[in-house]
Amino acid sequence: MSKASDPQIPPELLKRVEQSTLSHYEERAEQFWEGTRDHDVSQNIDALLRALPSSRSLKILDFGCGPGRDLVKFKAQGHEAVGLDGSAEFCKMAVQYSGCEVLHQSFSELDLVAESYDGIFANASLFHVPKALYPQVLKACFTALKPGGVLFSSNPRGEGEGMNGLRYGHYMELATSEAYLRAAGFEMVEHYYRPVGMPRHLQHWLAIVARKTEKIKPA
Ligand SMILES: C[S@@+](CC[C@H](N)C(=O)[O-])C[C@H]1O[C@@H](n2cnc3c(N)ncnc32)[C@H](O)[C@@H]1O
Repeated sequence: MSKASDPQIPPELLKRVEQSTLSHYEERAEQFWEGTRDHDVSQNIDALLRALPSSRSLKILDFGCGPGRDLVKFKAQGHEAVGLDGSAEFCKMAVQYSGCEVLHQSFSELDLVAESYDGIFANASLFHVPKALYPQVLKACFTALKPGGVLFSSNPRGEGEGMNGLRYGHYMELATSEAYLRAAGFEMVEHYYRPVGMPRHLQHWLAIVARKTEKIKPA
């Protein structure tokens, strides 16, 4: 696994990669919204909620919330949803659309209150974190979750990392994703591939539900 301190990847380069990815979204915010506002990710929302208590309202962080589609879904189910995104434009749109609190933070400089969320919903967002920063970002998610809290992530699967146009992406299969999650202190709850009902080679998305363990603390 890459380490945040990997001497081969200067921090300035990681910052440039992050800025490039965010600029891509920032410059196409309306277009992105039109293209994704009707995406049905209820399977993913249900997977996160299924792993959490059903008897009370939950505090959910939508990590990389974009324009706020899923904030509205969580809110409609009676939960306190908080968004987080590195794009100022998406943050503005998400506040307007959902009426929820939205944190303008980049994944490389997270400032989250410890043990404050029951669940973190990272739909199509964590794969934008360079592998060299991935352990520190997972650790920040771990710390922000309440004991027994749950991290949902859905990412395009595969091997490797690199730029796709202006956007950075890393691609992992289950075993690699699981190794990163376990190293950060999570235990696996369930995983599945999307879209449902397709042969595996056409299921390009891997969804994972992982729980913050109370026994293991990240190093
Ligand atoms: C593919 S979009 C997914 C948006 C939304 N979760 C959805 O499912 O439609 C990725 C999101 O992650 C955000 N993002 C990417 N890199 C980021 C970074 N380094 N810090 C904060 N947000 C980032 C983007 O601004 C964008 O909203």
